[in-house]
Amino acid sequence: LLDVAVMVERVPPQVTFPLRQRVLRPGQSLDRILLPGEDSDISGNFVARDNETGEVLSTGSVWPEPPPWVPSSPTHSEHAHHGPVEVPELALELTGPAGETCWRLRGMATAEDRRGEGLGKMVLDAIVAHAEQNGATLLWCNGRVRAIPFYERGGFRGLGELFEEEAFGPHLLMWRPLREEMT
Ligand SMILES: CC(C)(COP(=O)(O)OP(=O)(O)OC[C@H]1O[C@@H](n2cnc3c(N)ncnc32)[C@H](O)[C@@H]1OP(=O)(O)O)[C@@H](O)C(=O)NCCC(=O)NCCS
Repeated sequence: LLDVAVMVERVPPQVTFPLRQRVLRPGQSLDRILLPGEDSDISGNFVARDNETGEVLSTGSVWPEPPPWVPSSPTHSEHAHHGPVEVPELALELTGPAGETCWRLRGMATAEDRRGEGLGKMVLDAIVAHAEQNGATLLWCNGRVRAIPFYERGGFRGLGELFEEEAFGPHLLMWRPLREEMT
């Protein structure tokens, strides 16, 4: 059951780093945890925090970044080994030619002993709202295999085949439309 003493708030990127490092990047030092694109005024870093202790229980971040099926995307080449992927009509419509209204979700992590309580969903809802308020039409991520059911519950669908991300195992490119009138 959801603890009423948990609140979601927008925070500077650094507040998300300890939990992100522990859950997602245990081998990396804290000064390498900042992700490209994250340190901008428009990027949104969100945490679910225990109101009483201040402990960060779940975290996730979002910022504008064209998805890999847009050739100008910085992540295009990472995905090149995919070969051609058939991108659904709706995704193409929402992407637009330069992908400028697409946002990327990264760094979703919930504390090991607090999973399955809806905390990740609270963070994801805040991320969706932030992206929508800033004009986003599509949200995408590279989901780790074990997190695919979480993203599917959050309205994402997979695109293409599983691919290996060095050191982080198999991932699936996932996306969802934003804004109710488009879903
Ligand atoms: C993925 C992760 C962030 C999910 O966070 P969480 O706080 O446990 O998720 P929630 O409790 O908010 O779950 C939201 C919904 O997803 C579902 N869900 C979450 N994980 C699931 C799983 N492994 N299998 C099936 N359903 C799952 C929940 O049942 C819930 O569904 P509901 O809305 O119908 O009740 C968390 O498991 C985690 O930190 N995993 C390790 C790090 C990781 O892999 N992060 C993703 C990197 S891409």
